[in-house]
Amino acid sequence: MSNIKVYQQRRLRLADKMGAGLAVIPTAPERARNRDSHYPYRFDSYFHYLTGFSEPEAVLVLLAGNPARSILFCREKNLEREIWEGFRHGPESAKEIFGFDEAHPIAQLDEMLPKLLADQPSLFFHLGADSTWDARAVGWLNSVREQVRSGIAAPGAIQDVRALLDEMRLVKDAGEIATMRRAGEISAAAHIRAMQQARPGRHEFEVEAELLHEFRRHGAQAPAYTSIVAGGANACVLHYVFNDAPLKNGELLLIDAGCELDGYAADITRTFPVNGKFSAVQKDIYELVLAAQADAVFHVKPGNHWNQPHEAALKVLAQGFIDFGLCHGSIDEVLEKESYRQFYMHRTGHWLGMDVHDVGEYKRGGEWRTLQPGMALTVEPGCYIRPAENVPAHFWNTGIRIEDDVVVTEGGCEVLSRAAPKTVADIEALMEQGHA
Ligand code: GLY
Ligand code: MN
Ligand code: MN
Repeated sequence: MSNIKVYQQRRLRLADKMGAGLAVIPTAPERARNRDSHYPYRFDSYFHYLTGFSEPEAVLVLLAGNPARSILFCREKNLEREIWEGFRHGPESAKEIFGFDEAHPIAQLDEMLPKLLADQPSLFFHLGADSTWDARAVGWLNSVREQVRSGIAAPGAIQDVRALLDEMRLVKDAGEIATMRRAGEISAAAHIRAMQQARPGRHEFEVEAELLHEFRRHGAQAPAYTSIVAGGANACVLHYVFNDAPLKNGELLLIDAGCELDGYAADITRTFPVNGKFSAVQKDIYELVLAAQADAVFHVKPGNHWNQPHEAALKVLAQGFIDFGLCHGSIDEVLEKESYRQFYMHRTGHWLGMDVHDVGEYKRGGEWRTLQPGMALTVEPGCYIRPAENVPAHFWNTGIRIEDDVVVTEGGCEVLSRAAPKTVADIEALMEQGHA
C-alpha cells in the first residue's frame, strides 16, 4: 500500500469511529528556545499519524459522513520565506501529494471553520491540551451560535478526539513495526558503540556524543528523549540527565537512550562496567535483573494482561532481594508489603510508539487490558541501591536497568532491540574488543 493510502485509510477509520461530526487536529507549534532561535521542530504525533505531513502551522479538518472529507490547512508557498527557511508545499501541492480532498491556506482557518461547523452535531477536538487552541475553538463555536436565528445549528457536543485516536495508535500496523524495528536496530548499534567507547577517565558526555553520532549517521532525526548516561551513583537517579561526570574504574554505567526515526521511538537501557569487567557483586545484581527481564519478556504474549510481565519481574526481583539479604521475610510478605520498593520503585514498562511513553489505556473497565498482536511496549526492570543503614555497604550506589522494546506477535513477541548485547559474557566480550 502506498504511503498516501495508509494515511487516507487512517482518516477514514477515524471518520468511521466518529460516526458524525467534525474533527479539528492541529499539528504542534514551533517553540522558541531564546529570542529568534527555535527548538528543532517536531510535529504533533496525532496530526502526523493521520497525514504524514511534517510542516508546522498545519491543521487537519475531518468531516465524518458518506463520503468523509479531509481538509488540510497549511502554509502558503512564499518564495521569500523559502529562501530563508526552506521548502513549503503550499495547499495545492499538499492536496495532491498527501491525498486530501481539499487544502487551503492556514490563514483561512478561522474564517472557514464556523462555516464547516454549521449543522454538525459534534466537534471532535483535543480540548484542554492547549489554551490557545481552546480559545480558538470557543471562537468558532460562538460564531456558529451567532447564526442560530438564520436556522443554523451549532454543535451540541465537544468530544475528545484523542480517545478515538489512542486506540488506533495502540495497535501498530506492519509499516509502523518496520520503522520501529529499524529504530531499534539503530539504537542497539548506538549502545554497542557506547560500550566500545566507554572507559575510566572519559566523561558521561563523551559517551552521549557516541550515541548521537550513531543515531544521526543512520538517518534517525533525533534522540527520542533526553539520553541518560549515568555512571556509578548517578544510575540511582531515575531521570538523571546532566551527563557531565567522569567515569570511574570499578563503577557501572547505565545508559538509557533511543533514537526517533520517522516519528517512532526506540527506548533501550543497558548497564555495563566502565572498565569492561563486572565485579562479583555487580554481576550478582545484574544477573538478577536480567533474569527478571527474561521472565517479564516471556509473559508478553497475546491473551496475557498488561500487568503480567510486571508481576513476573517483581516475583524474580523480590526473591533475589531476599536471597541477597536486602529484603526480609517471605516472598509473599515482601510482595504484599512492597518492601521491594526501596530498590525497585518503577513499573516494568509502558506503551511505545510515536511517543516514547505512548498513548493507550492500560486498564479497561477497571481490568488490565489484554495484550494483542501489534501492541508495542518496553520491558525494563531495574534495581537501584542507594546508601542506607539497612543495606550492606558493598551494594551501595549500584544502579542497574535492562530495557528492551518488544512488539506482541501471534506467537509471543518480537524483541526489536535484541541486537544490543545484554548477557554478562556478551558485554564483556564486546568491551574487551573495544578496549583492545
Ligand atoms: N526512557 C524513559 C523510560 O525508560 O521510560
Ligand atoms: Mn528508557
Ligand atoms: Mn522506557
